[in-house]
Amino acid sequence: MPPSPEPEFALDALIAARLSRRGAIAGAGAAALLASLGRIGDAHTTESSLDFEELAARLGVDHDIAAGHRADVLIAWGDPVLPDAPPFTPDRPSVAAQERQFGYGNDYLAYFPLPHPDGEAGSDRGLLFVNHEATVPELMFKTYHSGESTLAECEVQLAAHGLSVVEVAREGGLWSVRADSSYNRRLPSNRTVFELRGPAAGHPRLCTRDDPSGTRVIGTLNNCAGGRTPWGTALSGEENVHHYFHLPRAPDADGQWEDSAPAVSPLVRERTNHARLGIGPAPYPFFQHIPRFHVEREPHEPNRFGWVVELDPYDPEAVPVKRTALGRFCHEGAETTLDPDGRVVVYMGDDGRGEYVYRFVSANSAHPKDRAANRNLLDEGTLFAARFFADGTLRWLPLVFGVGPLTPANGFESQADVLIETRRAADLVGATRMDRPEDVEASPTTGSVFVVLTNNSRRGRETGLDVDAANPRRENRTGHILELRPPRRADKPDHSADVFSWDVFLLGGDPARADSGARIGAGTSADGWLSCPDNIAFDRRGRLWIATDGHVDASGRPDGLWACDTDGAGRAATRRFYAVPMGAELCGPCFTPDGTTLFVAVQHPGEGSTYGAPSTRWPDFDPERPPRPAVVALQRLDGGPIGG
Ligand code: FEO
Ligand code: CA
Ligand code: CA
Repeated sequence: MPPSPEPEFALDALIAARLSRRGAIAGAGAAALLASLGRIGDAHTTESSLDFEELAARLGVDHDIAAGHRADVLIAWGDPVLPDAPPFTPDRPSVAAQERQFGYGNDYLAYFPLPHPDGEAGSDRGLLFVNHEATVPELMFKTYHSGESTLAECEVQLAAHGLSVVEVAREGGLWSVRADSSYNRRLPSNRTVFELRGPAAGHPRLCTRDDPSGTRVIGTLNNCAGGRTPWGTALSGEENVHHYFHLPRAPDADGQWEDSAPAVSPLVRERTNHARLGIGPAPYPFFQHIPRFHVEREPHEPNRFGWVVELDPYDPEAVPVKRTALGRFCHEGAETTLDPDGRVVVYMGDDGRGEYVYRFVSANSAHPKDRAANRNLLDEGTLFAARFFADGTLRWLPLVFGVGPLTPANGFESQADVLIETRRAADLVGATRMDRPEDVEASPTTGSVFVVLTNNSRRGRETGLDVDAANPRRENRTGHILELRPPRRADKPDHSADVFSWDVFLLGGDPARADSGARIGAGTSADGWLSCPDNIAFDRRGRLWIATDGHVDASGRPDGLWACDTDGAGRAATRRFYAVPMGAELCGPCFTPDGTTLFVAVQHPGEGSTYGAPSTRWPDFDPERPPRPAVVALQRLDGGPIGG
């Protein structure tokens, strides 16, 4: 293995390059730029645009929010979604009940104002789209035996996966769920049918015994972050789907292992594909009871997961769709914007160590006034993977069958093959291996695209995964955020351009520790630095709100929510706003259009403990109830916009 540059050397070179690029782009002086990227200050910068006093968070059993604000639980696992949902009885789990109640592991949130489509954007009444990523059986079931789940427990867990839509309203300053709303939906993953559409739909590699058409899948799995389209639908990324599928032996990276399967069997055909997605002995127990999760029995079933799902929350009858044109990998989010021609650009991260940042550009433009015309807009377009260069440029590499190495010589016979094996296609075109890409989202005010890289402790330790300009730290345990800048066309950011510029926005970690390699905005307090950024959202003024998933950082502090400016003296000077209870991570930050409410998803509180001895019983603190994942509404006590 070639020697790696020392982290500090790499960082200094990187920052020098960054300063020269920013100077050229913004015309700013080096002194001001250095001031905006200091190591740490003793107090807040007075020039930050944020108006709240920082929360001094300490790990505890309850959540906590900055002074002058309130945090109210809106809906939690087991609460009714449908009018006929029975009461939550955690000691007597039931599939029929779970199919009507709010699911587990709330992750992505998207708020859709009512009335719609043509009414005023409402900030007091809307639909909340929520996905349910994963389950924690040791906290869900009183009788759970470690490492095993019964068939009944597996079925309840699948029903607790999936999607929810609930109508929410604010009256007298407080939000509540309208339990009798005809919009309310549960789409549990044990029985909801999802349609497959786009170039891979119906391909033989998507066909199974239960679905010879290759177009109808039961359930969606491990939905992580997502996005909201300009025409008012929700997108949701299927992330770590490999955990659900079982192959008794894990093939190596080349898909090579010996067995007695016929040379032309689907199992053999899919070896490289399954290996590249990380499918092997499954950590989850579903395969023990449900045959389609056993890959030797149903080799194509995994190919029906790992896509981006689209749902129209305004239509209670809408069939959810898996959009294969957006590629198949461990999808984190799928945030959208428009290019100057009105084409839809979807930014996506693949949350794996050394995986890629992607972009999809639709073939046709969105119709601003015609929702129906946009219904299948995401079925045609071009998928790209990002290659970062040390000179501060980025090139989007198309993943198109027949272009470059994506040919039969490399095992691709069609665009369907390219999409089913997106990761391998991106390997071949030479995309840059990143430190676990999570949310990727464009600022509504500047057009800059922020790429969140949560961490990668193996950077610099794995052969072929050394540091590079865009991933500059060995054993990166605290993550970082990059800022991409598209060129401008017709005085708008051109999100479909082939070449962008890029820059480091912040390097997470404690800047007071000399070995952290952290770089963060000047004026950040000792409570204000963050690590392991994950989901982001922008407020109306374009300030960045950052949720973390570090499961307690190096200083023993909880995950939560931070905010910072993206430009000016407060650039990257993060300030802590909200903290989650023990064991939880924070997901789904999402503002109402008027900026006065910020919905957040507190995921897996109490993780690492058990039903009988939970580390917290948030949010009920009822001795008869385990902790419950929940959506929380954050507001200022005076009702003003959060952050000022
Ligand atoms: Fe489900 Fe990448 O977080
Ligand atoms: Ca996430
Ligand atoms: Ca986001």
